[in-house]
Amino acid sequence: MIDNIDKLIEKLRPRISCTITDTELMAQAKIAHEINKLKREKKAVILAHNYMAPVLFSSIPDFVGDSLELSRKAATTDKDIIIFCGVKFMAETAKLLNPNKLVLLPSLDAGCSLAESITADNVRSLKKQFPGVPVVTYINTYADVKAESDICCTSGNAAAVVESLHADTIIFIPDEYMAKNIARVTHKHVIVPMLNDNETVSLEVDYEKPKDSMIIWNGKCEVHEKFYVDEINHARRKYPGVVILAHPECSPEITEAVDFVGGTTSMINYVEKHQASYYLLLTECAMAENIAALHPDKNILRIYSNRCPHMDRISLENTLFSLQKHRYQIEIHPEIQERARRAITKMLAVG
Ligand code: 13P
Ligand code: SF4
Repeated sequence: MIDNIDKLIEKLRPRISCTITDTELMAQAKIAHEINKLKREKKAVILAHNYMAPVLFSSIPDFVGDSLELSRKAATTDKDIIIFCGVKFMAETAKLLNPNKLVLLPSLDAGCSLAESITADNVRSLKKQFPGVPVVTYINTYADVKAESDICCTSGNAAAVVESLHADTIIFIPDEYMAKNIARVTHKHVIVPMLNDNETVSLEVDYEKPKDSMIIWNGKCEVHEKFYVDEINHARRKYPGVVILAHPECSPEITEAVDFVGGTTSMINYVEKHQASYYLLLTECAMAENIAALHPDKNILRIYSNRCPHMDRISLENTLFSLQKHRYQIEIHPEIQERARRAITKMLAVG
């Protein structure tokens, strides 16, 4: 960690000077310096997702990573306070794994379209409709939904979690595209339930239960649903030798058309380990900036501006406020906590 503000500016300038002015850089470095000082005094740890804006990503986190890595860090930290620079479901996961610690999220507006797409009632309806079928829940959900689930998964371990169950049929919620992508990898049929007008009530399904199938939900990531195959074809023509990587929250048409599919950290690792003339990342756009800053020798195309509006809520300003005032504290009902924690720890045990 950098104690001296001049050193911090020196570190940040080459990484972010193309995204902000020098005056702004100085102001942001001052806030980051303040956060780092306070973090030490209060014995806090800052966990930051790969989608954080470059100035935050490069200045204050103790750990950066994808949902799986950050869950693992949250499970093992010995610090008293966890500040989660990410979205609410991620901070909830940290709280589930550290029920006695103070877990803070700098903005309560940092939601997620996938987490909003399904309720605990919806899961109870599915379970009633398909008794005994195990429920695999993507980590991008709230704690009450996790509490109704058998096991969680992230983009980094979804296929391994599905395979670990050795079940003919599973329910995979709530991301329709990720479910279809995982069904392709694990060779399962996809069954899309027909929803009633009010999606919170029982579901009508007209099918003969086949073996090896996956019953899915219709949630979507509002960022990853906005990539199109035409754009991939255009990029291949314009940038010869380009390697295109996509997050599994993208549609199956997209994941079929790209060179590599993986969660955020898998994409970073891929870029670090391979040599290509250009790389194009079909994911949240701040991540391309962060990789480009770390690897100035790599040609990372920045032709998209698909920013996650929820991740974008987290700033250095509100992280400082969060640390100073202990806002916003994540609280989860004890009964929900216990059942949701079980689904998370079962996932962590899969490896
Ligand atoms: P990762 O787990 O791959 O970091 O993805 C989290 C996410 O919200 C992607 O949109
Ligand atoms: Fe949710 Fe999509 Fe934002 Fe990830 S990028 S936090 S899935 S809305």
